[in-house]
Amino acid sequence: MIEINNKKIKIFTDGANLDAIDNLSKNPIIDGITTNPTLMKKSGVTNYLLFSKSAFAASQGKSLSIEVLSNSKEGMIREAEVLSSIGNSIYVKIPIVNSKGDSTREVISKLCKNNIKLNITAVLSKEQIDICAESLEINSTAYISIFAGRIADTGRDPVPFINYAVKKFYNYKNVEILWASTREVLNIYQAASCNANIITITPEIFRKLSFRNYDLEKLSLETVKMFNSDSISANFSILPE
Ligand code: E4P
Repeated sequence: MIEINNKKIKIFTDGANLDAIDNLSKNPIIDGITTNPTLMKKSGVTNYLLFSKSAFAASQGKSLSIEVLSNSKEGMIREAEVLSSIGNSIYVKIPIVNSKGDSTREVISKLCKNNIKLNITAVLSKEQIDICAESLEINSTAYISIFAGRIADTGRDPVPFINYAVKKFYNYKNVEILWASTREVLNIYQAASCNANIITITPEIFRKLSFRNYDLEKLSLETVKMFNSDSISANFSILPE
């Protein structure tokens, strides 16, 4: 958790590298881990369930979100039960629609009635935020992962979407709004200022956190030094020798 302008926000790390999960989980700033099948594929994971169990072991009891894979309602429910049984800190990621575009509201509804902790993922529209609210119980434990970066990729400002969700879930005491698909350190400030509970960041953005409030003139000089040393090592010249 970090505090920004008097607002606290939990920091999760988003990735699928076991060493990174192990290292970052030991860091007190990190409150949890999120991953997804694409990140796992990029990391070279071949056995999904085995990786999920290893990630759980590496996550030091911190919240760990793992996604279901099935397209069918029954398949999602069975997979959610298996993933949830890995440990108490598992949040099962249910995409708001399956890969055919069908709503997963019945799956969400059934799983939350069975007290499975959920991370409703790939939420990008206000209508989908409404569906999350309709599918969950007032006392359900869940994250709503709003893919702010993907919203921003379309030229839309994600902040009103997060504000909308924060307001919508005001009375759901165990539902947390998660700013997902983070692109830069600035997003942590934006997420905190609109009262998102959690932001998930890649290890690369985590490293960039050391630049918070960094002296801009120092950064300017370091940038010019980088250009200079690269031009020297590349033997660049403009004027004839
Ligand atoms: C969150 O849980 C997701 O894994 C992640 O933030 C997706 O980010 P992307 O839009 O960069 O794929």
